[in-house]
Formats: sequence, structure tokens, C-alpha cells
Amino acid sequence: MRKFVINGGRKLKGEVTVSGAKNSTVALIPAAILADGPVILEGVPDIEDVHALIEILGDFNVSTAFNNGTLVIDPVGMKSIPMTTGRIKSMRASYYFMGALLCKFGEGVIGMPGGCFLGPRPIDQHIKAFEALGAIVKNEQGAISLKSSENGLQGTRIYMDLVSIGATINAILSSVKAPGKTIIENAAREPEIIDVVTLLNKMGAKIRGAGTNVIRIEGVQELHGCTHMIIPDRIEAGTYISLAAAVGEGILIKNVIYEHIEGLISKMTEMGVRMDIDEDSIFVWPSEQLKMVSVKTQPYPGFATDLQQPLTPLLLKAQGSGTIIDTIYPKRVNHIPELVRMGAKAKVEEDTILIDGPNELQGAEVAASDLRAGAALIIAGLMASGTTVVSNIEHILRGYAQIVDKLTALGADIRMIEDESNEN
Ligand code: EPU
Repeated sequence: MRKFVINGGRKLKGEVTVSGAKNSTVALIPAAILADGPVILEGVPDIEDVHALIEILGDFNVSTAFNNGTLVIDPVGMKSIPMTTGRIKSMRASYYFMGALLCKFGEGVIGMPGGCFLGPRPIDQHIKAFEALGAIVKNEQGAISLKSSENGLQGTRIYMDLVSIGATINAILSSVKAPGKTIIENAAREPEIIDVVTLLNKMGAKIRGAGTNVIRIEGVQELHGCTHMIIPDRIEAGTYISLAAAVGEGILIKNVIYEHIEGLISKMTEMGVRMDIDEDSIFVWPSEQLKMVSVKTQPYPGFATDLQQPLTPLLLKAQGSGTIIDTIYPKRVNHIPELVRMGAKAKVEEDTILIDGPNELQGAEVAASDLRAGAALIIAGLMASGTTVVSNIEHILRGYAQIVDKLTALGADIRMIEDESNEN
């Protein structure tokens, strides 16, 4: 089992460049199979989820080449092979193959997706969209089997009962070639949706309204290959901004689209963090006296659920009492008991995280329950005195590209070890 060993208490300085967005990439890769020629994705982050998707593509007989952030996907020769176990179940985003296979082949069988445990993560809205388009969907012992009706899929109106990134993208993927018009109402507005639609439109799709809550799709007969540059990862950017405010002595974060993280920036400004915002970078000044704030997560453009955990260590530094309420994933609180092991005055009461600050953290042995909890523990480990050992880092490696190299370049003392004892 691999672990991170962090010797905390150092002040970090320098610059860090944000990679391409994980949650875009994991949708863009399944979207690319809809083309009838090679798709070239640029700015692809080197993370475990991408390697898992490349393996899954191989299993579907799709050829790929991944080199220096450029991923070439050639879906000519792809087959709709039932995929119910193994890699497909290791990640959440494998559900995008449901929409993509339904669109390309009119059928597919995909195992129920895995990914971070954040409480219940149903996919009823995905299925609602597939069925609205005319697919027959069956849940067969943990796998979803999809088949379009005899007449194929037909454009239709899909109303999402709640705002879901995954269901919105799956509704787009499945309907992009359905004859007629599809209208998705109460669609999610996240930047990753716009990125997927940008790729599909470059491939020849006719989709309007991405970034608003009504998306209109006119079915096309063919989609062709193209080249696409992935947007910067707003969650990775937010993680480094929070880290810079917590342990930085002046850190420049490059490749940032400020508008994508306004929710975080305004909270940090309220806390008293000084930032210089440039066209595509943010410089974070060192800060000593921070004011506590309360955070409530919301769908975009509200404060992102994926950033509440990485912000928590910074809140621990602030003066006063505050709360975090995650309205998207109320049970996304598993970082708190670990932070308490490091000396944090924090607790969870009825899905509300209560924090008292300021806190002096001490190194401890902690475990990452999920990707963003892992990011929180790394920041806390860098803040703490002494040594912190983070286990279950597979979660972190799924989503943060070159994290050890990036932190080491800023002056952090962090290394990855292979622990033979196999204990948590
Ligand atoms: N939901 C349903 N039914 C559905 C779909 C969603 O009830 O059919 C609920 C979910 O349980 C949740 C809310 O709707 O309460 C929003 O979930 P959403 O579908 O938007 O989540 P997702 O698409 O499965 C993506 C990201 C997550 C991120 C959420 C934020 C990917 C691969 N994952 O998940 O990213 O937290 O959106 O909405 O894009 C991460 O990067 O750490 C991560 C977990």
C-alpha cells in the first residue's frame, strides 16, 4: 500500500501550474468514441482515472496513444462489449459509457459505477434521460443494460428532477445523434458541461445552451474527429489556492480561469486572504490573521462541493466559529474525524460541520476516505508540526496530477512510500 509521508511546518513558495480538468476529461474520453475518426485531446491530466479509462477503451477495442498530455483516441473498430466488472467499476465516470454506447451502437451493458463514497449516489436521472429518448433500461445484478427501441432513439424533452452534472452529460451523449430535437431542462451549468459540448460541436454536433439550464440538441447523423484542448481543473486550482493561503509565503497558481472558482475566491476574500487575480493566474499572498466564515455548497456557480473539503484546513486556521453544510453530498464529512486526530476542534452534527479556530495541528496517521478528503489531509499535513502519514492515497492519485512533484517544487517535504505492512 502506498502512503504519503509529510513533514509539515514548512513555508511554501513559488509557482504551480494547474492541469487539465479531471471531471471534463473523464467525460470527454467517452464522448470521443462517438466520432468516426481520431479525436485528439490536449491538456489531459496524468491521473489514475485517465489511465483506467485508457484501459477501458482498450477493452472496447479502441486504440489510444497518451504522450505528454496529448491523448489520441481512435474509435474506428470499436465494439460494444458488455463491461460489468474490473476497471469500469473503479470509477464514477464509467457511467458516461452508458450514454455513449447507447448513442453509437443503440445498446450496451455497463456495471454500476464506483468512485468516491460520498453517501448515496443514485443514477436515476441518467436512466430517466435514456428512457425518455426511447431506450429500454434494465438493472441486471449490478449492471445496467441499455437497448434502444426498434425505431431507435428519438429527440425529446427531458426534465431533470435535480441538477446533476453526470445526468446532464449522459443526456447529451445519448441524444446527440437522436433524430429531431432534444431539450434538456434544469440542466447542470458547470464548466465541464460546456467543455463536453464544445468538443461535441467540434465533432459536428448541434448543441446550444451549454452553461445555461436549458440545453437544446438537434440530432446529427455523423460525428467526425477533431482536436480539443481541455479546460483547466477548477478544483485542483481551488485546492492549490487554499493550500497557498494556508502554508504559502507567496504562491503563483497558473492556468486558472478565475470565473470558474468565484465561489471559493469570494469566501477566501471574506476570510481576509489577499490575492492578485490576473488573466489566467492567481497570486496568493501570505496571510496570518484569518476570519472564520461559513460555507454552503450549491450547484455551479455556487460554492463547489468538491472544494469544501480542501478549504476545511484553511478554516481551521481562522479565528472564530463557522459551519460547512454540503447540500449536494450531506455525508461528505469523512475528512473531519481525520482532522480531529491531528488536533482540529471540529465536529459533525446532523450533517453540519462545526469548526472552532484557530487550531494548531500536529502530525498524525490519517486515512483518505475519498479524493477531496485526501487533498484536505495533505494541506493539513503541510500545516501541522511533525510528521503526517496519509494512507489510502489511491483516492488522491485518481484525481491530482503529479501532486508530489508539484508540492516538492513549492518546497514541501512530501514523499510517497510503499508500505509493505499493508495496514491502513
Ligand atoms: N443525483 C441523483 N440522481 C442522479 C444523479 C445525481 O439523486 O441520477 C444526486 C447526487 O446524489 C447528488 C446530486 O444529485 O446529491 C448531484 O450529483 P451529480 O450527478 O452532479 O454528481 P456526479 O455527476 O456523479 C460529479 C463529479 C463529482 C462532483 C459532483 C458535484 C464527475 C466524474 N464527478 O459527480 O466529483 O462532486 O459532480 O455535483 O464529474 C470529485 O471530483 O471529487 C467528485 C466527486
